[in-house]
Amino acid sequence: MYDPLEERARLYAKRAVMADRAGNYDEALDNYKRAIELFQHIVRLRADTPFRGVYTDLINKYSVRIRQLERMAQALSSAGGREVQVVQSNDVNVEVLDLDSPNRPKVTFNDVVGLNEVKRSLKRSVIYPIKAPDLYALGWPKGVMLYGPPGCGKTFIAAALANEAGAVLIKVSGADIMSKWLGEAEKNVARIFRKAREVASEGRPVIVFIDEVDGLLRIYSSEVGGEARVKNQFLTEMDGLYDKGGGRQLLFIVGATNKPWLLDVGFIRRFQKRIYVPPPDKELRTELFKHFIKKVEEGGAVKAGGNINYDKLAELTENYSSHDIEVVVMETLNRVIEEYFESNRVREITMEDFEETLKEIKPSIDEILISKYREWAKNYASE
Ligand SMILES: Nc1ncnc2c1ncn2[C@@H]1O[C@H](COP(=O)(O)OP(=O)(O)OP(=O)(O)O)[C@@H](O)[C@H]1O
Ligand SMILES: [Mg+2]
Repeated sequence: MYDPLEERARLYAKRAVMADRAGNYDEALDNYKRAIELFQHIVRLRADTPFRGVYTDLINKYSVRIRQLERMAQALSSAGGREVQVVQSNDVNVEVLDLDSPNRPKVTFNDVVGLNEVKRSLKRSVIYPIKAPDLYALGWPKGVMLYGPPGCGKTFIAAALANEAGAVLIKVSGADIMSKWLGEAEKNVARIFRKAREVASEGRPVIVFIDEVDGLLRIYSSEVGGEARVKNQFLTEMDGLYDKGGGRQLLFIVGATNKPWLLDVGFIRRFQKRIYVPPPDKELRTELFKHFIKKVEEGGAVKAGGNINYDKLAELTENYSSHDIEVVVMETLNRVIEEYFESNRVREITMEDFEETLKEIKPSIDEILISKYREWAKNYASE
């Protein structure tokens, strides 16, 4: 069976991924959008496709990537500063994700493979104080910073943390604060903290997750002094968390960054707990392969063959981030899907498929990067 619709969807998907890899983001965006449209169409029309799960998965993945690319484009255009900046109206709402909010990520610590040290630190610094505040006569630190190489689970584990803690989640990104509301950025920092205090004053635990905190400190040529104003506002707000009995509030600011060295000392000091989210070691890489392959098997008609050597896969993927490993599994699955379109037969994924994929997908981390975190930690690690 040759299905022109599926063929076209895959073509757009392929173009999108290639353009994305080559750094042609406009082209990537355009093609991701077209691919999603077609995949959605297919899922609706072809209820019996064996790849329903796969397509749904791709729709989600591409949507996430589109949002990232759009954010990046936005940040870039405001950083360029050549055009006249339009100050957007100040009616931007702070998104408060209550426990029952449909927009809230559903992940828990169980979905996060490994990273047991990180989980332990987060329990000690956030979850236990929330569960039993009375045990903490001296209060608890309000600022927690997750740092480490890209794609190794910072954003992922922060979402899981909010669920584990049963906390209201207020989620923003540093780049958003700076770029969406240019000229308004410090007001938005104030708005976010005000909202958080409001919820916390009702006695409810709140986690403000500021993803990519380094984005707060990016210099915008178009806005003289903007960066300093935002930073000062932020420092003031952080210090204010301890004022007037606020010390007992269950309000936590969790930041994440893959470039901690861009943060200045004053800023870093407000995050008393700094937790390294490391790249996956061999053992964790084995676990990750098992995890993602299991998801593939659960999600559709494709199964993994008996000759897959997990130990070898882990060995071959030194310096691959957790996300890289996820991509390797997805791309390998794509191989089998592509063959299906040519031969109309679904076959198992084999070790050889993985070896082929690994020739194409290179690791996104290297020793130099890791040593930069090590250097930074010498001065700033906590615990
Ligand atoms: N420990 C893990 N277990 C399961 N999946 C993971 C794990 N770590 C990362 N992933 C997968 O990789 C994706 C990327 O991870 P995430 O976005 O959390 O990375 P990050 O550390 O925030 O990277 P960046 O610094 O680029 O923001 C996640 O959405 C998730 O699918
Ligand atoms: Mg992240």
